[in-house]
Amino acid sequence: MSGHGKPIPMISHRVTGLQGTAEVPGDKSISHRALILGALSVGETVVTGLLEGQDVLDTASAMRAFGAEVTRDDDGTWHVHGVGVGGFAEPGQVIDCGNSGTGVRLIMGAMATSPITATFTGDASLNKRPMARITDPLALFGAHAVGRAGGRLPMTITGAADPVPVRYTVPVPSAQVKSAVLLAGLNAPGRTVVIEAEATRDHTERMLAGFGAEIITEETGEGRVITLTGQPELEPQSIIVPRDPSSAAFPVCAALITEGSDVLVPNIGLNPTRAGLFTTLREMGADLSYENEREEGGEPVADLRARYSPDMEGIEVPPARAASMIDEYPVLSVVAGFARGMTVMRGVKELRVKESDRIEAMATGLRANGVSVEDGPDWWTVEGRGAGGVPGGATCASHLDHRIAMSFLVMGMAAKKPVSVDDGGPIATSFPIFEALMGGLGADIRRA
Ligand code: S3P
Repeated sequence: MSGHGKPIPMISHRVTGLQGTAEVPGDKSISHRALILGALSVGETVVTGLLEGQDVLDTASAMRAFGAEVTRDDDGTWHVHGVGVGGFAEPGQVIDCGNSGTGVRLIMGAMATSPITATFTGDASLNKRPMARITDPLALFGAHAVGRAGGRLPMTITGAADPVPVRYTVPVPSAQVKSAVLLAGLNAPGRTVVIEAEATRDHTERMLAGFGAEIITEETGEGRVITLTGQPELEPQSIIVPRDPSSAAFPVCAALITEGSDVLVPNIGLNPTRAGLFTTLREMGADLSYENEREEGGEPVADLRARYSPDMEGIEVPPARAASMIDEYPVLSVVAGFARGMTVMRGVKELRVKESDRIEAMATGLRANGVSVEDGPDWWTVEGRGAGGVPGGATCASHLDHRIAMSFLVMGMAAKKPVSVDDGGPIATSFPIFEALMGGLGADIRRA
C-alpha cells in the first residue's frame, strides 16, 4: 500500500530494568518467500507464524493479483493456493508494494519469465530505490522494463515469452538480486546459475529446495555458485516461519543499554547469513547468551538472553560480516553510542540504498542527540559515550524507514533525555507489535 496515514510522532523516555520475554514476530524475508513460492506451486501451501506486517500483506495482495488464492484463518494460519511455475495471470491493476524492496524485487523476478505485463509502484521511499540491479539481469532472460529515470518505480515489466536461462554474477552483495534471478530462472528451461562473491541470506535457496526444486550451492574460488534447474513442478509445503532475528535485534539491544535489564527473546533463527549482529555484540562485550540451542526446520535456533552490559567497548566490525547483519547497523550504531571507544563500520555502501540512506539518517539523529559520528561513502564511525552517557533530547526523522524509527526509540530508553521520532508509522511494515512488546518489557514509548 503506497504511503501510510498521517505521521505518528513518538517519544521514548528513559527507563530502567527492562524485564520479561519478548515474543517477536515472524521473519520478514521468509514470510515474503513463503507467499511467493506458495503462489508458484500447484496446490495448497499452509503458512503459520507469517509476519503480518504491511510489507508482507502487500506481497499477499500482489500474489492474489497474479492469480493465486491467498486467505487467512482467524487463528493466523495462511493458505496459498498456487498457480504453478509459469502460471501467473496478468494482473488487472497496478501492483503496489508499499515500502517493500524485498516484495517488489522478488515479485519482479517471479513474473519476468512469463508472457505477461505488470506495472509496479510503491511509497515515496520505495519509488526512490534503484531497480536497475533487478531489471538488468531480468533483461538477460528476455524481459523488458520501462521505468522512471535512473531505473526507478513506477515501472512496467513485460516478461519474456521465450525465456532463456542465464549465468549471472551479482554485482552487489544482495539477496534480493540473487533471489529475483533465481525466481526468474524457475520458468526458464535449462540451468540458471547465480554467482555471489559474498554470501548473502540464503532463504530462497533453502526454501526452493524445500519446495522440491533442483538447486545446488557450491563454494568455489569465485564465491558461491548456485545452480537452479528450471521449470520444476514446485510442491506445496507446510511452512512454520521462524522468528525474525532482525526484529529480535531491538529488544536485545534495548536490554544491553538499559540499566538493570534482563530480557529473554525465544525461538530466534540463527542462520549464519543473518546472525552477524549477535556475534558483533558479543565481541563488544555484551552479556548476550544463546540458550536452548537447537535445530528447527533445518535452521539453527536459540533463545537469546540479553542483560544490561555497561562495559561494552567499540570494535571494528569486519566488513566480511556486513551482509549477515546489513539491516542491523542502525541499531548497532545506537549500542555503539553507549559503548566505550570507537565503533568502525566499513564496507556498508548498501546502507545508502535501503528504505532510507541509513548512514545519513542515523548519523544525523545520533549527532542531534549528542553522539559524534563520522561517515564516508561506504563507512561510518560512532564515538561511544559509555553506559548512560548519551545525552538524547532531540527529535529524529525516520525517513519512512521502520528500522530508523525503532533504533531511535531504543536509544531513548537509555539516553539521559527522551528521544523522539517524527513518524513511527513505518514500524508497522515489519514489527507491528513493537510498541506493545517493548511496553510489556517496561519501555515508556508514547505517541506524542
Ligand atoms: C532481504 C535482503 C536485504 C535486506 C532486506 C531483506 C531479503 O536486502 O536488507 O531487508 O529478504 O532478501 P538486499 O538484498 O538489498 O541487501
